[in-house]
Amino acid sequence: MRRKLVVGNWKMHGSRPANAELLSALIAARPYGADVAVCVPYVFLTETAATLAGSELRWGAQDVSAHEQGAYTGEVSAAMLAECGCRYAIVGHSERRAYHGESDQLVADKARAALARGVTPIVCVGETLAEREADQTEAVVKRQLSAVIHTLAHCAGEIVVAYEPVWAIGTGRTATPQQAQQVHAVLRAQLQAATGHGQRVRILYGGSVKPDNAAELFGQADIDGGLVGGASLKAADFVAICRAAG
Ligand code: PGA
Repeated sequence: MRRKLVVGNWKMHGSRPANAELLSALIAARPYGADVAVCVPYVFLTETAATLAGSELRWGAQDVSAHEQGAYTGEVSAAMLAECGCRYAIVGHSERRAYHGESDQLVADKARAALARGVTPIVCVGETLAEREADQTEAVVKRQLSAVIHTLAHCAGEIVVAYEPVWAIGTGRTATPQQAQQVHAVLRAQLQAATGHGQRVRILYGGSVKPDNAAELFGQADIDGGLVGGASLKAADFVAICRAAG
């Protein structure tokens, strides 16, 4: 049985006072019947770690360098994330693929770098609206995941996957539970065929998850929780979503 996981993706939001308020609300609302984590901007990791230490809440980053160390101005290594106690690092978010030109292979290399330091990569895959309309959804997500599977080889069963249809992110337009479930089943079958551990890997849904749609999404057979953007910034909404997973 896979334990559900809900991850807040703060993106480039937050401030020290706002974070303190949000995190203390999340702590106060424990316990959750699911694993809960927040992926925060790098500069807030140390404070987040100090605030959440001793609770069962976890934290992580929104990206990681594919390189181990060196002259890569502006990058942050997996070893640094591990030092900050990160359990997770999001890799291949569609905003990074689109605005920073991240390729499938770069995403796979980032996932490998994270795993090598004991940080679990949350590998994001998802199709654009044009790709969905051209019936390319399965081909796109399988191509994106396959780069990661090939690069990680026998470790591919250690990742978390997040299916995030690009047309549903921040748009208020959620995939229906059936649409999401269909893609999740495809991804799980792909993981199973490649690694033999398809039943173990948690596959999260992301894209306009809200308190009023979370329970139905999380009720699908292959949806193991959510990667939540906008609603993760509002304590009451995020708590409600975490409860829907429990
Ligand atoms: P959203 O973002 O919940 O605001 O749609 C999800 C994500 O981008 O991870």
